[in-house]
Amino acid sequence: MMRQDVLIYLLFVCRVLPAALTAVIQTQQTVLAAVGEDAEFSCQLLETKDVLQVTWQKISHDVGTNVATYNKYFGQRVHDGFTDKFEFKYTGLQNCSIVIRNVIEQDEGCYRCLFNTYPEGAFTGRTCLQVYELHEPVVDVRESNSTEEWVVSCSATGRPAPTVTLSVSQQDLNFSQYNTVSVSNTNATFTVTTTAVLSGSRKHSTQVGCAARVLSAPQREVMVMISEVKQVHAGNDDNDDDFTWIIVLGAVICVCIVAVVTILANRKKLL
Ligand SMILES: *[C@@H]1O[C@H](CO)[C@@H](O)[C@H](O)[C@H]1NC(C)=O
Ligand SMILES: *[C@@H]1O[C@H](CO)[C@@H](O)[C@H](O)[C@H]1NC(C)=O
Ligand SMILES: *[C@@H]1O[C@H](CO)[C@@H](O)[C@H](O)[C@H]1NC(C)=O
Ligand SMILES: *[C@@H]1O[C@H](CO)[C@@H](O)[C@H](O)[C@H]1NC(C)=O
Repeated sequence: MMRQDVLIYLLFVCRVLPAALTAVIQTQQTVLAAVGEDAEFSCQLLETKDVLQVTWQKISHDVGTNVATYNKYFGQRVHDGFTDKFEFKYTGLQNCSIVIRNVIEQDEGCYRCLFNTYPEGAFTGRTCLQVYELHEPVVDVRESNSTEEWVVSCSATGRPAPTVTLSVSQQDLNFSQYNTVSVSNTNATFTVTTTAVLSGSRKHSTQVGCAARVLSAPQREVMVMISEVKQVHAGNDDNDDDFTWIIVLGAVICVCIVAVVTILANRKKLL
């Protein structure tokens, strides 16, 4: 009985199995991972079959290269040349998952899991790995020539090119005159810089945010506090002018009241 099983197993391992049967395998279509992170792929055979071996392959130019195999006789095995990168996370003949350690750009591509069954053949699932890179954005704030404006710029580096978005916490302040420049770096990343003019009052401190996004990965955001301008010329400030007028008016009214009272008192004395 045992010998027969081994024979069937060997038959399947030695044969090139047609990779046509899909649909009964549940797997992720795309896995997104940041450079340096680990990526996990899992495949689950939804129907119970007599599985002899689970094989993981890396596909390049439509050709699959065996990366790792699991079967009930020899257990799990990561093939030569892949041992630094791949390891099994969960092994089972119906449900199997692997982890790619410390992903780099070269790990990007599609992978296949094959459930080799008897007598039907191989059921395959396909998952593609998308590797991205995203660094924390850097915000720079400059005072513009106008006392009502700031020039805010934000830079973020990533692959593919990130989208950079500026935001402001205060309702009465708005960004305008957007300008975005994208520079490609030698390592296939892009540095995107968005510059905009923040208009509105510069009298209060306000918070400016910058968010960088790549694909559907979690965004990276930084917040910067812009504090109020120190040198405000008193003559140009409307509020200071109003206050001066109130004091002057008050003083004039006081002097008038004192004068009227004095005149009235003097008149009474005379009468
Ligand atoms: C199969 O594996 C996935 C992920 O490893 C897990 O979420 C799921 O519960 C497993 N299913 C079974 C039937 O073991
Ligand atoms: C600010 O002033 C400088 C020189 O006075 C000028 O070259 C520059 O264009 C001005 N910038 C803005 C935004 O008005
Ligand atoms: C790619 O280049 C950018 C800009 O020179 C740098 O910030 C980033 O760290 C580089 N990425 C890698 C993975 O070396
Ligand atoms: C900023 O935008 C909001 C809404 O779009 C608008 O109500 C407000 O008047 C704008 N403020 C300035 C200073 O332009």
